[in-house]
Amino acid sequence: MSSTGEPHNPVLVALDVRTGAEAVRLARALQADVGGFKVGLQLMMGAGPAMVGAIAELGLPVFADAKLHDIPDTVNKAAHHLGSLGARWVTAHGAGGRAMLEAAREGLAAATAGHDAGILAVTVLTSLDSSQLATVGMGSSVGKQVSRLARLAAEVGVEGVVCSVKELGDVVQVAPDLLRVTPGIRPADSDANDQSRVATPVEAIARGADWIVIGRPITRAKDPAAAAAAIAADVGAA
Ligand code: C5P
Repeated sequence: MSSTGEPHNPVLVALDVRTGAEAVRLARALQADVGGFKVGLQLMMGAGPAMVGAIAELGLPVFADAKLHDIPDTVNKAAHHLGSLGARWVTAHGAGGRAMLEAAREGLAAATAGHDAGILAVTVLTSLDSSQLATVGMGSSVGKQVSRLARLAAEVGVEGVVCSVKELGDVVQVAPDLLRVTPGIRPADSDANDQSRVATPVEAIARGADWIVIGRPITRAKDPAAAAAAIAADVGAA
């Protein structure tokens, strides 16, 4: 379950909306029925990184999905900044390599001495398949590449990884102690939207996800709080 092993509501809602006001309104409406919030690139680039702090003020963990990938010094400072704003997790691409992941971990730790915070290494984006990996010079299958990056993440000592449900088994096998965060989740009765490899919340947890990232099935529901509560109830009952 959580990094502390405590049972928790595993739903992280992706606040993929246009304005900061919309994000805060949505987060307030959902906070009783979810485990935390994800602030992704759309909100970070639009409303700005201060949104991480504005959402963290509500008291639930905030996942700053910045997908950092740059030279180590730059990534160190960006992670430090997001940590200062109150991020509980910050993402950095595993493909940025060992030194970059170490720099991310150190930058975040220096900013968050008083509270828990950790780097999540992004493994392979769910939008990429093995043939696309080959075109960028990665000749492995998706599963092998995820395993390689999960091993690296564990060696560097980051807190966890982001991977699809399909690769959860690979991560459990090679790096069982890493926290596993999984997008591409769809309740059985909802639209897949543009996600191609989807799984239900219950399947994701059964396969080893600690946290599941869910956006549109909650944020675009007629009653977002009811949609979130129904997902939490399903997962809790399973
Ligand atoms: O609306 P939906 O549930 O598809 O949102 C999923 C969220 O997870 C989005 O914020 C998206 O950026 C993120 N994500 C993803 N696949 C990844 C990494 C992140 O869908 N591999």
